[in-house]
Amino acid sequence: MTAPIDLRSDTVTKPSEAMRRAMAEAEVGDDWYGDDPTVNRLQDRVAELTGREAAAYLPTGTMCTQIAVHALTRSGRFVVCEAKSHAGGSEVASAAVLSGVAFLRLRGDDRAMLNAEQVATALEPDPYDVDVVDLVCLENTHQLGGGTAMPVDDVRSIHKVCADRGVPLYLDGARIFNACAVTGADVADYAGEVEAMMFCLSKGLGAPIGSVLVGDREFIREARRLKILFGGAWRQAGIMAAAGLIALEEGPKRLHEDHARARRLAAGVAELLPGAIDPERVETNMLFVDVTNAGYDVLDIRERLAAEGVLVTMVAGKIRMLTHVNIGDADVDGALGAWRRVVDVLPPRGDVTEEEGA
Ligand SMILES: Cc1ncc(COP(=O)(O)O)c(C=O)c1O
Repeated sequence: MTAPIDLRSDTVTKPSEAMRRAMAEAEVGDDWYGDDPTVNRLQDRVAELTGREAAAYLPTGTMCTQIAVHALTRSGRFVVCEAKSHAGGSEVASAAVLSGVAFLRLRGDDRAMLNAEQVATALEPDPYDVDVVDLVCLENTHQLGGGTAMPVDDVRSIHKVCADRGVPLYLDGARIFNACAVTGADVADYAGEVEAMMFCLSKGLGAPIGSVLVGDREFIREARRLKILFGGAWRQAGIMAAAGLIALEEGPKRLHEDHARARRLAAGVAELLPGAIDPERVETNMLFVDVTNAGYDVLDIRERLAAEGVLVTMVAGKIRMLTHVNIGDADVDGALGAWRRVVDVLPPRGDVTEEEGA
């Protein structure tokens, strides 16, 4: 049986041969003591690449954000974020439990982008001094916005508003290198416009595990304390960091290929299901297909695609597909062939019965 074409996420990638070799040969120590040489090398390299004083290698993007939220807020305070952001959505319960904060969720534009005016309004002091915002959080690329990329200038404008109010700005840059590939900016341009930022090695960059938090030396010192407090002292983590170092060097330069393939996939699906997706709006490596727009059921289409050997997810009521390092041109052709076979046997649009369309 051939392996399925797995478009569920850019986290499903398998480590390359070079990564497996590097992991097998990694020089390691105990990261609790800060003496794993491969982890330290990765952290130093990330600090250098981002132009920040220091970096902390952590198991997940969620842990990076939760540590940043904990370090930069006080219990009972607010975090401002975009309404559909990962931090204010999937991580809202984590932040409530770990830090006792609530989220002030601002609705972004049709690409889920916030602007400086909106943030300025949200940061106006409460005349009764009760609702206090401790942190503003951005997401770039913005997943539920459609993998949309925010230009550095827009981050800078928001940073200025935050700085005027003395509120730190945090960037969930899980896919910041995808943003860089689109905007042409350097990762240091983004990292220089925020108090702290994280990115994931385990997404588009193709590492099996790990994310990195960056900021100034004092912040990272506190982040390392919180990493241990939250149970993230992962001992000989150099085994994973060795793959992370390769992801960091090799990953960013090939992301434009993922973006081109995502757009080709979108164009093919748009031809089969007119109105379900606009390929022009696919900016990076992810696409959301609104099959309900064409009168079909999301879970039914997902199951039919799986039966054809193509794995996708349902996110926000749509079929979500991501391209990544293990998806080549032949996989895009294969996925489009599967979509064609699925669409061919669906009842014609408009003929869907109430039950079938529910
Ligand atoms: C935008 C964004 N931020 C943060 C995360 C969390 O990363 P992790 O799965 O490594 O915790 C994700 C994961 O999907 C994400 O898409």
